[in-house]
Amino acid sequence: MKTALGLAVVAALAALGTQSAVAQTAIPSEPANAVNLVDGLEGVFGTHAGFRRSGARGVCATGEFVGNKAGAALSKASVFSGKAVPVTLRFSIGGGNPNAPENGKGVRGLAAQFDLPNGEQWLMANISAPFFTAATPDGFLAFLEARKPDPATKKPDPAKIAAAAAKYPDFKPQMEWVAKTGVPASYGTVNYWGANAFKFTNAAGKTQFARWMFVPVGGQHFIPDNKLADHAKVFLADELKGRVSQIPVEFDFVLQLAQAGDPTDNATVAWPDDRKQVVAGRLKVTAVSDKSTCDGINFNPLVLPTGIEPSDDPLLAARAGSYAVSQGRRLAQ
Ligand code: HEM
Repeated sequence: MKTALGLAVVAALAALGTQSAVAQTAIPSEPANAVNLVDGLEGVFGTHAGFRRSGARGVCATGEFVGNKAGAALSKASVFSGKAVPVTLRFSIGGGNPNAPENGKGVRGLAAQFDLPNGEQWLMANISAPFFTAATPDGFLAFLEARKPDPATKKPDPAKIAAAAAKYPDFKPQMEWVAKTGVPASYGTVNYWGANAFKFTNAAGKTQFARWMFVPVGGQHFIPDNKLADHAKVFLADELKGRVSQIPVEFDFVLQLAQAGDPTDNATVAWPDDRKQVVAGRLKVTAVSDKSTCDGINFNPLVLPTGIEPSDDPLLAARAGSYAVSQGRRLAQ
């Protein structure tokens, strides 16, 4: 039926077909936003009522932070006044599985809320790797969507993983880091990095981009690889409780200072090792606390004190939005 109408219908159907083919292969399926990022986490890890959509397994703790003059030289934030400020903490296992085994490779998390004078707060969530999984929210959404198990096989489709990896190879530094790094013997014996860059402004108005890291004063300790299989699968909360009941676990707060040209918008690229590092304070973890002390908090990295501002890293706004979405879902369940 080669009528004009028939040809138009065929052309329209062909165009629709093309559009849907494009939609099916678009990576990620749509631009990332706060909601689809949380949907993406749920797609990979399932929906676990009441739990964080990432860092689902974790434990609350409390402690204090004392900043120092080296910190005050970089930022006028009151956290560097030299006076102890109370800190609410949460240690966690990366990912949205509340039953994730603790003797497996992967990132650990250290989140903190500093309660500063005059009602100011500083919130942060750090991971035990210097890099995040993706440089951009779109890259992270692509990473998650590719890992969503196929309903038929209950496994991710390797072709989708390969296609996402080809478009966003920036997940590799973190993956390689995790593969070569041991499994922490304790939440208190591993480094934690902020990964995102922030802008520090001192009392004279001088600005400096920096990234932070928490370094355990007692050193890093990992479970030997040949002991992992027989190691307890759940131990981290009790281990930390026992440890801090003897003596506080302390971390140096170290700032790595950017030089001109160092990228401040890409948490998958490390700055050169020779960049100056400054110990700007010390965190003391003094007690493991009841879940009610941190469950209500979402550690939004855009809650910053005067003297510290966000960089141009696009992950920061995406984090703020998706942490709020996750918090809304878990507290409503
Ligand atoms: C676009 C990028 C990211 C997305 C979409 C994302 C998403 C999330 C979500 C939804 C939560 C749960 C929040 C809650 O329910 O309170 C979470 C927790 C967490 N995230 Fe992210 N995240 C991103 C990037 C990062 C980065 C760059 C880091 C660290 C360098 C990080 C570290 C953590 C940690 C440690 C937790 C657990 C915090 C806690 O104990 O409450 N995330 N993330």
